[in-house]
Amino acid sequence: MMLDPTTILLTAEDAQTAAQTLHRGGLVAFPTETVYGLGADASNADAVARLYAAKGRPSFNPLIAHVADLNAARTIARFDDVALRLAEAFWPGPLTLVLPKAENCPVCDLATAGLDSVALRVPAHPIAQSMLRAFGGAVVAPSANRSGHVSPTTAAHVAADLSGRIDAIVDGGPVIVGVESTIVGCLGSPVLLRPGGVPREAIERVLGRALIAAATVADAGHAPVAPGMLASHYAPHANVRLGATRIEQGEALLAFGSDLPPGSEAAVAVRNLSPRGDLAEAAAHLFGALRELDAAGVRAIAVMPIPTHGLGEAINDRLRRAAAPRP
Ligand code: TXA
Ligand code: MG
Repeated sequence: MMLDPTTILLTAEDAQTAAQTLHRGGLVAFPTETVYGLGADASNADAVARLYAAKGRPSFNPLIAHVADLNAARTIARFDDVALRLAEAFWPGPLTLVLPKAENCPVCDLATAGLDSVALRVPAHPIAQSMLRAFGGAVVAPSANRSGHVSPTTAAHVAADLSGRIDAIVDGGPVIVGVESTIVGCLGSPVLLRPGGVPREAIERVLGRALIAAATVADAGHAPVAPGMLASHYAPHANVRLGATRIEQGEALLAFGSDLPPGSEAAVAVRNLSPRGDLAEAAAHLFGALRELDAAGVRAIAVMPIPTHGLGEAINDRLRRAAAPRP
């Protein structure tokens, strides 16, 4: 992989180097099981400011703090019974909890956009785990892409977006889950703020009740629910058309399953998220397929209907954002 000389490439053995770079205020991209994150010391406002600049991200959009385990998490936020039950069921793993800040919360105000709440996650990826343990504190990490691009699922995706703008990339190969963590707000009744790597059904089984949808809370006039959930996001350069049951001239096909729609033979390019119709496989391939179709220079992508249960909720959410009108 070609890297700008100012961005160094690390491997799984370099957890100490990654942690030292973070301690010096540096920016380190690292693999999590969901997508690659761009890490900075959560307590260092200068480092966090450089992180927003490297991504080109609006700084009103708060970040997720990553820690190695629940004990570390409890120094950052307050857990009620429901939050504790979710943390015990799904951590380490692709679940983020939005919780009230603990007293003396070390996460700087810039990283939480001045909110009284903080988003927290304990990633399961072994490289993320060893880096967080070597570092000792909280690491804020948005997805390691330029703001508005699709999230990176390989180190090469990170390099394509951020090479020369960050200090290091830890290469851990392709990620397993492929869509970002599920975000649940636990500031009252639990609210689904973003569908993601833990299916809603699994969370509802643990809670023994339905999660409130973020939109319902927003409608009820409550505080902003997920400030980062801009309508257009995860956007490829091509136009994206959803629910396609036939392929028009000049379109590329993003397929799911083996039963391709009429017109597929003439598609300018085809990527199949999962020929056997498996939603977990489709999630793992989603962002890479969008990047490949972009790299191939296609101008329009027709996406077959994808089931909405399980990981399908997150996949459809990301595709709706990819298809939304651009600002
Ligand atoms: O899987 C993931 O979650 C990845 C990996 C790297 O951990 N990270 C990620 O971060 O997706 P990011 O920055 O792309 O998305 C964070 C989301 C944003 O939509 C943001 O608005 C929301 O979390 N968020 C952060 N703090 C919040 C808070 N206090 N209240 C509500 N939403 C919050
Ligand atoms: Mg992101």
